[in-house]
Amino acid sequence: MSALPSHGAGAPLPSGTAAADADYAGFVVHLRRQVGIDLDQYKRRQMERRIRAFADRRGVATLAEYAEVLRAEPDELNALLDRITINVSQLFRNPEQWVRLGEQLVPDLVTTGNGRIRAWSAGCSFGAEAYSLAATVKEVAPTARIDIRASDIDQRILAAAGRGEFTSDDARTAPPELLERHFEALPGNGWRANRSLLASVHFHHEDLLATRPAPGSFDLVLCRNVVIYFTPEAREDVHARLAASLRPGGYFVIGSTERIAQPLDELGLEIAYPFVYRKVT
Ligand SMILES: C[S@@+](CC[C@H](N)C(=O)[O-])C[C@H]1O[C@@H](n2cnc3c(N)ncnc32)[C@H](O)[C@@H]1O
Repeated sequence: MSALPSHGAGAPLPSGTAAADADYAGFVVHLRRQVGIDLDQYKRRQMERRIRAFADRRGVATLAEYAEVLRAEPDELNALLDRITINVSQLFRNPEQWVRLGEQLVPDLVTTGNGRIRAWSAGCSFGAEAYSLAATVKEVAPTARIDIRASDIDQRILAAAGRGEFTSDDARTAPPELLERHFEALPGNGWRANRSLLASVHFHHEDLLATRPAPGSFDLVLCRNVVIYFTPEAREDVHARLAASLRPGGYFVIGSTERIAQPLDELGLEIAYPFVYRKVT
């Protein structure tokens, strides 16, 4: 029997009450068991609002009832995961960061890394960031050896990422000459990464909240528009592990609405450019 007070079907629990808190806490446990995602590490208010609004479509009054729906319906579970993970991205998102990468970071990394760049697109969504990086490196350092690890918690989006296909809208801020040189126009509309880009990017299913990358194993880490959904504690923890994964002289690029909250010297970082940090030690 449920410990929650009973509500008529379709009458959602009043938010902010002890019953709603317990209902959400139970749902967090359920989702952790069912798919391994730990919602406690994400900002509670916006996550709860998003999940309850999504569950409402099914006419359920509680998340406990919604958990039963998820147990029985894999399609509903996938649809919810899509809603939770927020896969918004685009090629060359925040163009000024790509100018910086092309003009400063990549040439510097090629020099200090003896012609090799090991990069990580952490929270890569459908791959736009990883392929934008591959195209940028091919453009400014065509002989560099480039290996891009791209990872995300969302398995369905990773399947799409591997195809390297983008709509014209995904490419709306991409420099036209880079599109022409490194992507193939798809019949009708859109672009596909060319073979050379496809071969440079390797996708992995990975939870950033749990992964422990080897220290010093990357020259460049991009983690943009991912930790904004995490609690402050989870965000700091992820930033610390990503910083530790860089070799001295490597760069850490964050989203252009973000900041690293903890003291930089604790992470061995210094500010290199706006939203770009350099690993010092
Ligand atoms: C808004 S997209 C950002 C994509 C890209 N970095 C960009 O800036 O365009 C956020 C991505 O983070 C992923 N994500 C959320 N939580 C994650 C986690 N715990 N581990 C790995 N990826 C996660 C989501 O699945 C989603 O694809």
